[in-house]
Amino acid sequence: MKIDVVSIFPDYLQPLRLSLVGKAIENGIVDLDVHDLRHWTHDRHRTVDDTPYGGGAGMVMRPEPWGEALDDLAPETGAGTPRLLIMTPAGRPFSQAMAEELAGEDHLIFACGRYEGVDARVGVDAGKRMRTDEISIGDYVLNGGEVASLVIIEAVVRLLPGVIGNPESLTEESHATGQDHLLEYPIYTKPPTWRGLDVPEILFSGHHAKIADWRRQRAEELTRERRPDLLPPVPAASTITIERAT
Ligand code: ADE
Repeated sequence: MKIDVVSIFPDYLQPLRLSLVGKAIENGIVDLDVHDLRHWTHDRHRTVDDTPYGGGAGMVMRPEPWGEALDDLAPETGAGTPRLLIMTPAGRPFSQAMAEELAGEDHLIFACGRYEGVDARVGVDAGKRMRTDEISIGDYVLNGGEVASLVIIEAVVRLLPGVIGNPESLTEESHATGQDHLLEYPIYTKPPTWRGLDVPEILFSGHHAKIADWRRQRAEELTRERRPDLLPPVPAASTITIERAT
């Protein structure tokens, strides 16, 4: 998979060279390029922002450097064009389902906005020649899109074949599709007792069906407690008509 990231702080993306994503890059599973948006400026000060039309606080990223950057990174048109992801708190919420969908793409381009965001015409113009989405990683505001890109890249790259040693670990975790939208059950390792806290007895039983039942129950309890929004809606109780004898 080819991944391009455009930012005015390319160093922010350095952690991608570490750990599993770093290995995926070394192994050639991912081809990552991080670009400095200022490369596509032409003035002495390498300006990327300006004041907002209509007034308001803060600065807005000018469209020209973004337009040129995207022309260079995605010159192709038609089938096989890259997928552009513009990071913004006003975007569609990122999810595991989206990570799974993005893991099937050949080429992703991440646009990391700073200040109050990127001029709205950038997404419209890019949308004419590639699939373009504005994405948010949560209902809070970061200082820019770099950390959001890191989050999405990590969530996507770990799904690529060959990145995680044991692919089975991908299917049992929280938010994995096929997990009925349940959070993952609590997990334990050695020692059996630690600071007076025991590992639940059932996990030593060797009884796989009972362990699976216990895990399922704990996953349901946790989900009900922490994320009831993930559970399917309870069907409305059917109306029972009681015939009264006269
Ligand atoms: N940029 C600033 N906040 C963000 C968020 N929550 N998600 C994506 N990009 C952002």
